[in-house]
Amino acid sequence: MSDAHPDNQPDANAKVPRHVAIIMDGNGRWAERRHMPRFAGHKAGVDAVRRVVEVAGKRGIEVLTLFAFSSENWRRPKKEVGLLMDLFMVALEREVRRLNKNNVRLRIIGNIAGFSEKLQKRIHKAQQLTAGNTGLVLVVAANYGGRWDITQAARQLARRVEAGEIRADDIDAEMMDSCMCLHDLPEPDLFIRSGGEMRISNFLLWQLAYCEMYFTDILWPDFNEGVIDDALESFSRRQRRFGRTGQQVEQGGKAGGAEGDDDA
Ligand code: FPP
Repeated sequence: MSDAHPDNQPDANAKVPRHVAIIMDGNGRWAERRHMPRFAGHKAGVDAVRRVVEVAGKRGIEVLTLFAFSSENWRRPKKEVGLLMDLFMVALEREVRRLNKNNVRLRIIGNIAGFSEKLQKRIHKAQQLTAGNTGLVLVVAANYGGRWDITQAARQLARRVEAGEIRADDIDAEMMDSCMCLHDLPEPDLFIRSGGEMRISNFLLWQLAYCEMYFTDILWPDFNEGVIDDALESFSRRQRRFGRTGQQVEQGGKAGGAEGDDDA
């Protein structure tokens, strides 16, 4: 783990996660069960986002990362992708004012260049508007993929090697980490996936290395305060060892340190 960001090292004994990362799955099924178009599920999903942001703030979570659109979601029917883009545009316009009022800092991660000019502009405007806020950091992963993130970090370092600034042998996990999206935020402590599937689906592959996992069958539009609280309760009962023994963890301390780097 990095010595450069000591405040960002996970605390093995923390009872409330600093950073929660969520895959919001099940919108389509939620709608289909009601004989509604899939898009109605995505719309109801925005209401669930609003609820979760509010609860996260109340529970003292510092960072909430939501997987809104993966690099692979472009493979969906063209009509659904178009409707999802429209929904992002509307949500950005409508929700950003509310987020700003609630002191939330919005950040979008992913390959933003893949979106329309109009959407890119709206993303920049929303980030600028909320940049000075000091409350919850809301990270929305859009056109994001964990493999894309690792690849762009590798490319940044390769360029520095090409320019003669560093040697290939200088590259270590800490240097890679400094090039990843989210490098300046605490790493995720708790991962939640709704909708019953138990996989990571190319989400934060690098950042989830030591994250606690929580899966629920609840479909995303039904996600509410109770589900978050169940996940937080489950998290509070776990012992995070980061490769150390249970006894060492009970003696307290942060995850990093001389003895433990990026093994186990
Ligand atoms: C997965 O459900 C959900 C998505 C691909 C889109 C998520 C988008 C939102 C919740 C709305 C926008 C969010 C923000 C932050 C503005 P699915 O369609 O894969 O559901 P299924 O597995 O039931 O088919």
